[in-house]
Amino acid sequence: AVPVLKKQLSLFVSLTANLASGILPSSGDVQVQTENLATQLKQDNVVEHISAARGIINFKVNRKLLAQKLLEPFGNGEDDKFGLNSELFNTLTTGTTLVEYSSPNIAKKFHAGHLRSTIIGNFIANLKQSLGNDVIRMNYLGDWGMQFGLLGAGFEQFGSPEKLKQNPLQHLFEVMVFFLFSFALQVYVRVNKEAENNENMKQAARDFFRQLEQHESHAVSLWQQFRDITVKEYQDIYERLGVHFDVYSGESFHQDQAQQVMQQLQSRGLLKTSEKGTGVVDLSPNRDMTNVCTVLRSDGTTLYITRDIAAAINRKEKYSFDEMIYVTDKSQENHFSQLFQILLAMGHSWADGCRHVSFGLVQGMKTRAGEVVFLEDVLDEARARMLNNMSQSNTTKELENPEDTAEKVGISALIIQDFKGPLQSDYKFDWDRMLQAQGDTGVFLQYTHARLCRSEISSIDTFSFWILYPLIYSVLYQSAQDLQPKHLVNFLLKLCHLIASAHRELPVKGSPEAVAQARLRLFSGACSVLANGMRILGITPVNKM
Ligand code: ARG
Repeated sequence: AVPVLKKQLSLFVSLTANLASGILPSSGDVQVQTENLATQLKQDNVVEHISAARGIINFKVNRKLLAQKLLEPFGNGEDDKFGLNSELFNTLTTGTTLVEYSSPNIAKKFHAGHLRSTIIGNFIANLKQSLGNDVIRMNYLGDWGMQFGLLGAGFEQFGSPEKLKQNPLQHLFEVMVFFLFSFALQVYVRVNKEAENNENMKQAARDFFRQLEQHESHAVSLWQQFRDITVKEYQDIYERLGVHFDVYSGESFHQDQAQQVMQQLQSRGLLKTSEKGTGVVDLSPNRDMTNVCTVLRSDGTTLYITRDIAAAINRKEKYSFDEMIYVTDKSQENHFSQLFQILLAMGHSWADGCRHVSFGLVQGMKTRAGEVVFLEDVLDEARARMLNNMSQSNTTKELENPEDTAEKVGISALIIQDFKGPLQSDYKFDWDRMLQAQGDTGVFLQYTHARLCRSEISSIDTFSFWILYPLIYSVLYQSAQDLQPKHLVNFLLKLCHLIASAHRELPVKGSPEAVAQARLRLFSGACSVLANGMRILGITPVNKM
């Protein structure tokens, strides 16, 4: 039935296209035209009814047949698989997608932008996976650059290598009160200040970074420790967020390759020297140096963009991806546009498959303790606030692990607040609004899911009523086009509102057996669609709250 339906639909599309392109007369009576069009469509057991009225063609799909067809592959323990084996998905092109997201900087503050990148990138990776792509999840750490000169030199002065070795985490906390990167940030800040009036310190920082660039073992081992500790800290926090990475890469990995990139640019005649003595690539349309991108400092060291060029080429060789998606805030739009232009100029036509997903700023992300410095603070605050809200409800007492539930619900509140609008927009961070149980929030989604899990509904095994399935399919397809989570979020919120009225209008208790069974199936199907949709957004559905 599905292929027949597809055929009928494509007939529709070609008819409308013909009309638009003037093959069919566009003047004359609209009613006559639509009737003409309608007669070309065949009424059969798939399309049950066709009618034309005032320029609109209506048709009715045989719902029973569609439901039956869609149900066929399900109900046998495959509910969680979004029908990847369904004929509906054959039309989609799949392949390998590399998604690079989160990518914080060692020894620098983790800001709201990194949180956004983490959850948006996770959503895109989940979405691509649910549509049948092979997905590589990559974290590209900011683990190289002059700040490591300051950090290294500072640590040698103020830090304690023994303590760092014996009990790294404790040492971090000792030195830096509550900051996640503890010593690293403090050392960085202190050195920065001192460096203003202390030439020796500046020199020490430069020396340390030079030693690092020359792979001097002492400098490298200290740097390695900073990096390892940071990654470990982050992994714990990512776990709380339900986010994981297949690869932890970083700028440091491409230090040497960046020098090779310089040679490639040179041999292609793309490398120019600016008046200031820096190495640049001319990106202006008339090649008159009015728009250049600096790829080499005058002292011969490479930059952020140079490492990105090397990283992209290296990833293509290593993973032979079909598409690569970078997720960062919009301040880096120019950076990525330059990156893709340079790759194309170097003859890497696959750069056409690279995409930058950018997002707006978050205003006013604060916790009770004040300005947010680390991601952990935000997660702790979300959990605490949610726990407090939940303590007013009776069901919380029945929970085995209320903290864990509060954490999951709190995180879903953060995610829905972030995903509701277009990613490009800035938004105001608002604890009270995002944690409302009634409004269009993550708490509302969780509450609806938990309610569906409760009582009679759970008694009906995993069988799903997949009539809801084509709906979510079209929403996922739409999200895959522009990589915006808002389509799925709005679909799920709408679904929850419908479920709320269904709870009122379609009681199970007290209904005749057959009716009760049908309703139970409806609720059970809604529950599974909701849960799967939430998981794609990066939310772990809770069964009780
Ligand atoms: N570490 C960078 C930052 O925090 C983000 C990295 C984005 N990815 C990239 N390939 N440049 O700003």
